[in-house]
Amino acid sequence: MCGIVGIVGKSNAEQIILNGLERLEYRGYDSAGMYVADRTSDHLIKAQGRIKNLEAKVTPEVTGTIGIGHTRWATHGKPSERNAHPHTSGNEELVLVHNGVIENFEELHDTYLADHHFAGQTDTEIVVHLIEVLKAQNSSTTKEAFKQALTLIRGSYAFALVDKKDSETIYVAKNKSPLLIGLGDGFNVICSDALAMLDQTTHFVEIEDGEMVTVQADEITIEDLKGNLVYRESYEAQLDLTDIEKGTYPYYMLKEIDDQPTVMRRLIQEYQGTNGQVTIDPQLKAEMIASDRIYIIACGTSNHAGWAAKAILETLTQIPVEVHLSSEFGYNTPLLSAKPFFIFLTQSGETADSRQVLVKINALGLPSLTITNVAGSTLSREAKHTLLLHAGPEIAVASTKAYTAQIAVMTLLAKAIGDEKAVQAAFDFDVFHELSIVASTMETLVDEKAVISQFAEDFLSTSRNAFYIGRGNDYYVSMEAALKLKEISYIQAEGFAAGELKHGTIALIEEGTPVIGIISEAVTGSHTRGNLKEVESRGAHTLVIASQELAKPTDQIIIPNVHPLVTSLVSVIPTQLLAYFATLQRGYDVDKPRNLAKSVTVE
Ligand code: F6R
Repeated sequence: MCGIVGIVGKSNAEQIILNGLERLEYRGYDSAGMYVADRTSDHLIKAQGRIKNLEAKVTPEVTGTIGIGHTRWATHGKPSERNAHPHTSGNEELVLVHNGVIENFEELHDTYLADHHFAGQTDTEIVVHLIEVLKAQNSSTTKEAFKQALTLIRGSYAFALVDKKDSETIYVAKNKSPLLIGLGDGFNVICSDALAMLDQTTHFVEIEDGEMVTVQADEITIEDLKGNLVYRESYEAQLDLTDIEKGTYPYYMLKEIDDQPTVMRRLIQEYQGTNGQVTIDPQLKAEMIASDRIYIIACGTSNHAGWAAKAILETLTQIPVEVHLSSEFGYNTPLLSAKPFFIFLTQSGETADSRQVLVKINALGLPSLTITNVAGSTLSREAKHTLLLHAGPEIAVASTKAYTAQIAVMTLLAKAIGDEKAVQAAFDFDVFHELSIVASTMETLVDEKAVISQFAEDFLSTSRNAFYIGRGNDYYVSMEAALKLKEISYIQAEGFAAGELKHGTIALIEEGTPVIGIISEAVTGSHTRGNLKEVESRGAHTLVIASQELAKPTDQIIIPNVHPLVTSLVSVIPTQLLAYFATLQRGYDVDKPRNLAKSVTVE
């Protein structure tokens, strides 16, 4: 959600910024812009829509040695060129890009800027005008005025500010939104995600909330808002460019679906100790064992992974588990148990809805764990413990490999806790063996592309709506399957508990409505089959995804058997492929669905 890149001290800044913005496309955006300058000229260009529209405006004279660029995902003001960043102050001397939401922008406007004219409707424009006013009022420097503005602003932000009179400095600050400094040789960069600048540097420095950084070609200066200098070591990003390139794949989503067996094997390697046990920090295990209830807090696909892991955690640890939507939990908090333990599931580690819960949990002094794909992300830093997904960057907006990695990491965690608590079910469950069977089964399933593409064509390519149904774990996978389908193909899809259809929703079934049943649970399989019969007799067009041991000859997609606790790791694969192919057949962009952002940094 919004992306920032910037560079100072290198020629062709415009090209570096364009490349960086392209690598941030995955975050979701609807317009883009950049400011580049050198000692003799400067250029501010913006475009609605894709980066290629911006690129088309980069004529040969648009060049510089300093620049800031931005992809915007509209919050205040509709997607348009006028609302695209960078924004300039009233006197056009200051240029600002921003990721986040300024909560008190109306108050700032009324107090300081009532007589100002604004080109667009964004909260960001208020901030750059505010800096101009503070600078004039106090005859201060740009840096001092920026710092003062930061003390007045409430909300989430990552800012990059350039004063047109100084083509050698970028000022940056952040609060709740990500921003990194990258260190180069004779130049420095800024970015929302290290991925954006990996072709320039692999050495990065984190910025903390409440700090301001002056970035110049040869040095960076970090200080707090009182002016105290802060020294922070850089770290080397554990990523390489091949992780973020599509290679021969037409879309990232397909690459990421295919990555899943490798991710399972990587997780086995990462979490298997030399003693054959799961390696988990003993302190984390002790805190979880001491708890009387685990609360999983997550949004969207991560929330669905939480549901899929509930039975695994309960079976192997014998600790009750509740799964909650972050956006609901924070403001309608249920009565908590006496010794709660919180797991935050978040691929990006930046989701604002989840973070607001973590902030409250931390204020109550309660123990927490973040399970994330991004080391050093906000939720990772702010929770007491972190476990990593080791899934490699997930670039497609629709999450696939992060979902299965989340379930697998929670399975490993559950096994470690269960072993420590001497739960029989945990002793009986050879997690590394079962995950390696999962990896091989995933391989078989991802090879079924031609068949699944045909089912997508037959069932989904022209349909207006669709239902996924199942019970127990198959219901939880149905929710994820439906989300995947709706978010990229725009088919109105619902994941339903199979038994619930007849209590109301069956009224929507008409001739040809696609209903996809998932059957991998022995105890409920025959009931789900009964529900499929009910919809068939009302005209539904049914497709069955069944595990081998429960399959009937007429079932269309058969999943090789895996351990009953981890069926969701494999039954989801055909549904990811169905969503992928249906989207292609309907002519939409698989990786960049409309209106969606990968990293959702606003509530
Ligand atoms: C859907 C999807 C989203 C995310 C949700 C939470 O494919 O990716 O539903 O799962 O926005 O994001 P994270 O996991 O980064 O907290």
